[in-house]
Amino acid sequence: MADTKVYRASTTAPVNIAVIKYWGKRDPKLNLPTNSSLSVTLSQSDLRTHTTASCSPSYPTSDSLLLNGSPQDVLGARTQACFRELRSLRQSLEASNPSLPKLSSYPLKIVSENNFPTAAGLASSAAGFAALVRAIADLYELPASPTELSKIARQGSGSACRSLFGGYVGWDKGTAADGSDSMAYEVAPAAHWPTMRAVILVVSAAKKGVSSTAGMQTTVATSSLFPARANETVPRRMKEMEAAVKAKDFETFAKVTMRDSNSFHATCLDTEPPIFYLNDVSRAAIKVVEEVNKKAGKTVAAYTFDAGPNAVIYYLEESEKEVAGLFKAMLGEKEGWEGARGSKIEANKTALEAAEKEAGVAIAGLKEGVARVILTGVGEGPLKTEETLIDEKGEPVNAVTNGS
Ligand code: DP6
Repeated sequence: MADTKVYRASTTAPVNIAVIKYWGKRDPKLNLPTNSSLSVTLSQSDLRTHTTASCSPSYPTSDSLLLNGSPQDVLGARTQACFRELRSLRQSLEASNPSLPKLSSYPLKIVSENNFPTAAGLASSAAGFAALVRAIADLYELPASPTELSKIARQGSGSACRSLFGGYVGWDKGTAADGSDSMAYEVAPAAHWPTMRAVILVVSAAKKGVSSTAGMQTTVATSSLFPARANETVPRRMKEMEAAVKAKDFETFAKVTMRDSNSFHATCLDTEPPIFYLNDVSRAAIKVVEEVNKKAGKTVAAYTFDAGPNAVIYYLEESEKEVAGLFKAMLGEKEGWEGARGSKIEANKTALEAAEKEAGVAIAGLKEGVARVILTGVGEGPLKTEETLIDEKGEPVNAVTNGS
């Protein structure tokens, strides 16, 4: 009888937020960056993509991907590159062991779900491609390490390579033309510095701006600030940041994080035509963080912004009262405080009263412009799970759409 078995594997993968930003490609096809970068992997209890990869000789001939219940285009060069590389690794296994089922020749059916709303405007491509690559690698039983898989995920979306690891993760830009040395590595596991926290201020009505893929190309082509950033500033900061993480030196971590975010957004403004990712709400968040640090007499909070207006503010658990407590007093009525993390935080009304004197306009701006908050912290890399999104017949199960 012909084989009709459905082969399946499931994984979850995290979001990461860079503290040294990736911005610029030296090879757009292979997704090779102009500079190295470094990120913090965020906890999957708060933000994650869950993916089941499956294949079967009984499937319709073309590969498919369902994300939050909607079919996605898998014919794009990036997804195709990931499929091709993973299939070729599986083919090598099958060639060396003819008793293995020929999974590489079967169509793939993939189902993915995010546990956070797509409308939050959070870059989900990093978690998405990391989960896709990890799930297919598990399906194919590839003996590939996270480092090896990061080179494949990188071709899906650059920042995705960093989501193959937990904790504090670097992406070495590499120098080889074929991309063989452009991969992610662990700077330190989450357990090394487990008290890192983040509050994400999700800005309302965040309209889709210039995509990072398009934006960074224009920056490389037109910004005169960019070469100094890529060739001098970032290499220096990578060293400072790695040392700060290893030494658990929050002040340096925070200062470098903020300066690097500002440097990245400066090159955006220096792009022709200029790219504006920060808006008035983002600038209000910067002002409030400045105020928190001034009040504390040391740097206890660090803001960073990606290709959009949402603020990610890193702080340590020990500064929860001064940082998250202030934001709760300020934005307590917004969505996001009801979870396990948020409900534990006490609204720091005294800090709010003090901050209002110095940053009243900024606080009013945040109250008006922030739609919801997400409380999270450093977390683990991709995790295998028995929870499947595809049943034994190859049908999607509980296809919930939390992506509204
Ligand atoms: C600002 O990884 O989304 O978030 O490789 O074109 O998919 P592509 O770009 P992407 O860019 C992320 C840019 C960033 C900074 C960062 O995450 O390092």
